[in-house]
Amino acid sequence: MWRNRDVISARDFTRAELEELFETAKYMEKYARSRLDVMRGKIMAVAFFEPSTRTRLSFEAAMKRLGGDVVGFWGTEGTSVEKGETLADTIRMLDVYSNIIVIRHKYEGAAKLAAEVAESPVVNGGDGAFNHPTQAMLDVYTIWREFGYVDGLNIGLLGDLRHARTVNSLLEALANFNVRVYLISPEFLRPRAETIDYVQSRGLKLSFHTNVEEVIGELDVMYVVRIQKERFIDPLEYEKVKGSYRVAPEMLRNAKKGLIVLHPLPRVDEIDPRVDTTPHAKYFKQAALGVPLRMALIYLILS
Ligand code: NCD
Repeated sequence: MWRNRDVISARDFTRAELEELFETAKYMEKYARSRLDVMRGKIMAVAFFEPSTRTRLSFEAAMKRLGGDVVGFWGTEGTSVEKGETLADTIRMLDVYSNIIVIRHKYEGAAKLAAEVAESPVVNGGDGAFNHPTQAMLDVYTIWREFGYVDGLNIGLLGDLRHARTVNSLLEALANFNVRVYLISPEFLRPRAETIDYVQSRGLKLSFHTNVEEVIGELDVMYVVRIQKERFIDPLEYEKVKGSYRVAPEMLRNAKKGLIVLHPLPRVDEIDPRVDTTPHAKYFKQAALGVPLRMALIYLILS
């Protein structure tokens, strides 16, 4: 099901495929701090045109834990992109130097274009405000690992739901499960209409809220994203919402005992650091699971 696939959008993956990925990732957890030599002789190319810490490093760590090698660049300094090389030509080169390509780019659709040009599988590590499918897989995997199941959970998404590509992809991945999603954001930061339409057509139950306090008691998962400052077209709009939400221990007093708080990271000021030491905080664990999840992904695609 996974062999040689591109990973461009979370929409392309069925529930059965996600479950196969999760089972494989669980197996990979045993090797995520050591080594499982199944990718020896294989090379992963990483082309990160946009900043990244976790996505790039966890992909690289995953390939190395599997015994494979990594080549690539982050930022375009020192590459021929500075001389005016097109994305398509850069990808053609990575394609002949490697077996799998992971790309991050500020333009929506860049990963799809790369997949059309490359023969090797292409994995989207984030394209503009659009998609971040492997983050969504990691997010649902973390929920599945924490609860042992996904169906039946009440999941709140809090923050800049319009510009956060992780939210877009997470909603699409959640459409495979029988969950209820609470979209909590200022009105003009609601997810894009095409995503809402798509997930509703798949039967995902959604409700819209502007105030966390109103729904906090009902949630099993609270997924927080930062305001995506760099994606605002109008800086005045950004000023209006800057600092408009913050998860703090006081807010969590009314939460279910088992509520887990997730965040794709980086956080800026939307989660008070005092939350880190509460049993609700699972965002660092979530980031750690990025290695076994991406080991599983590489393994399923390349083996
Ligand atoms: C996110 C991203 O790059 O979209 N980070 C990540 O990949 N873990 C989230 C963000 O930048 O806010």
